[in-house]
Amino acid sequence: MLKPNPGIETIKAYQGGKPIEEVKRELGISDIIKLASNENPLGPSPLAQQAIKDISTQVHFYPDGNAFYLKADLAKHLGVTEDYLILTNGSNEVLQLVGETYLGPGDEIIYAAGAFVVYGLVATVTGATPIVVPMQNDTHHLPAMAEAITDKTKAIFIANPNNPTGTMVTAKETAHFMAQVPEDVLVVFDEAYYEYVSHPDYPHTLPYVMDGRNFIITRTFSKIYGLAGLRIGYGIAPPSVIATMNPVRQPFNCNAVAQAAARAAITDTEYVKESQKINDQGKVFLYKAFDNLGLRYIKTEGNFIMVFVNQPGADIAEAMMKKGVIVRAMAGYGYPDAIRVTIGKQKENERFIDVLSSLV
Ligand SMILES: Cc1ncc(COP(=O)(O)O)c(C=O)c1O
Repeated sequence: MLKPNPGIETIKAYQGGKPIEEVKRELGISDIIKLASNENPLGPSPLAQQAIKDISTQVHFYPDGNAFYLKADLAKHLGVTEDYLILTNGSNEVLQLVGETYLGPGDEIIYAAGAFVVYGLVATVTGATPIVVPMQNDTHHLPAMAEAITDKTKAIFIANPNNPTGTMVTAKETAHFMAQVPEDVLVVFDEAYYEYVSHPDYPHTLPYVMDGRNFIITRTFSKIYGLAGLRIGYGIAPPSVIATMNPVRQPFNCNAVAQAAARAAITDTEYVKESQKINDQGKVFLYKAFDNLGLRYIKTEGNFIMVFVNQPGADIAEAMMKKGVIVRAMAGYGYPDAIRVTIGKQKENERFIDVLSSLV
């Protein structure tokens, strides 16, 4: 019998939602809103849309495998040199590359229960041993994660802010934690929602990279930059780490359309500002609505909120979908009585609350 590698058969395939068109067809509803995957409700920036049109006549060429121009733009934008950057097929690919490059059987990888699901997947696929540390107050408990370090620890994954809880660790907590992490352990800070955070205690992690620690920051164009469908993200790490991971990626991992759109998106500061504003306003509206409904929720630093619905979240998500509002049930993250909603535009948030109110 053809046997896959150890652990592979235990992996559950990622449960994405059905295509909106399919839901419309099945339910006979034409007006559906999707608040399930933490995408930017404004759609892609107009500048990115134009760049996509402009590059469309060139897609018979392979993309630039080194993402020369995007890397240069991004380096300038971040205040680093190009050798600190790796461009990837969504920031997910950085996480996967960390696994392929550094992890194997016998290594331990530490992450939090209730953190973004991909870290567990990376551990399983590579044969590394996952060490899953409980959260405290729905937040990464960095002291406990530091305690979990052994001489087998190879990497530690931290989502900041975390999906799905929306919580963050502070600069002070991070500094204390980093002082306890041995130099040869790789720390991965997943900052997919970085551009949404306005909290004054949010850690600036770039100095850990610049100090030459084994530290990787992952960021993405999928969230505030509105390009989830194009799959483009990146990692920031010391040049030695980048140079080690770079040969492992596929030569053309970032497609030409994504590179062009990402270059345009980082120039559109108005669009980013507007996206932050819509998100902040939506947050205030939804908090108030949840308070009025007497529902507990977790304050978020991202563009999504986890709210407890006092019954199986899967039932609520299913019932909401039948009324044309798609949200995500959270049982897979260990929160069976919660749903996660992406903060939408005002009209979408109102409709979400209308439908939720009729069910809780
Ligand atoms: C915490 C976190 N990290 C990484 C990702 C992956 O994003 P992408 O691969 O689209 O960059 C997501 C997407 O939902 C996320 O929530």
